[in-house]
Amino acid sequence: MPRILVTYASRFGSTRDVAAAIAEELTSAGFDVDVLYANPELDLSKYDGIVIGSPAYGQNWLPRASLFVIGNAERLANLPVAMFTTGMLGVKNPKMALREHNEIISTLSEFAPAVSPVSTALFHGSFDRKNLPICLRIMDRIAGTPQGDQRNWDAIRSWGRKVGDLFTSHLRHPSSGLDSKEE
Ligand SMILES: Cc1cc2nc3c(=O)[nH]c(=O)nc-3n(C[C@H](O)[C@H](O)[C@H](O)COP(=O)(O)O)c2cc1C
Repeated sequence: MPRILVTYASRFGSTRDVAAAIAEELTSAGFDVDVLYANPELDLSKYDGIVIGSPAYGQNWLPRASLFVIGNAERLANLPVAMFTTGMLGVKNPKMALREHNEIISTLSEFAPAVSPVSTALFHGSFDRKNLPICLRIMDRIAGTPQGDQRNWDAIRSWGRKVGDLFTSHLRHPSSGLDSKEE
């Protein structure tokens, strides 16, 4: 049974839950799946495919997730890889959010050019102003950042199934191509 690692960075836990839902879909598709917090020292030698995700913070992935990709670039170059971003920008401005997501992925590929995801996706995340320091809460209220859990589980799970299909065909006939998907 092919083994898949779903690895993620997360500050407040919402991206961890997204990773877990994707892992459930991959498990249902017949893969043996581990879900682990991103760590540059994870042993990737036992995996046949990797899904990596991070929330956007300040228009970037969290360093843990970026460093995972860059630090493991050589190994990831030889595996099917899928990447996802969570964030709140897309709730109000989907086009700008997709641009932000694509820029994050293309910056990663500048640092890890041999890593070519078979699919990438952007999902709405979850945000609670109460998690911010008080001075930032005031700025955030003025900015009108959407609040609450905006995660679209149908979109997340559907992408998880799609990644399962792509990994299956990649493992049967190794080839790669990047496609990008918005919620
Ligand atoms: C300080 C801060 C900066 C953020 N920057 C962005 C951003 O640049 N783009 C975006 O789409 N969402 C942004 N967000 C929203 C988070 O990506 C979103 O809340 C995400 O779901 C959090 O994931 P986590 O619970 O796994 O940490 C930001 C949130 C905070 C608190």
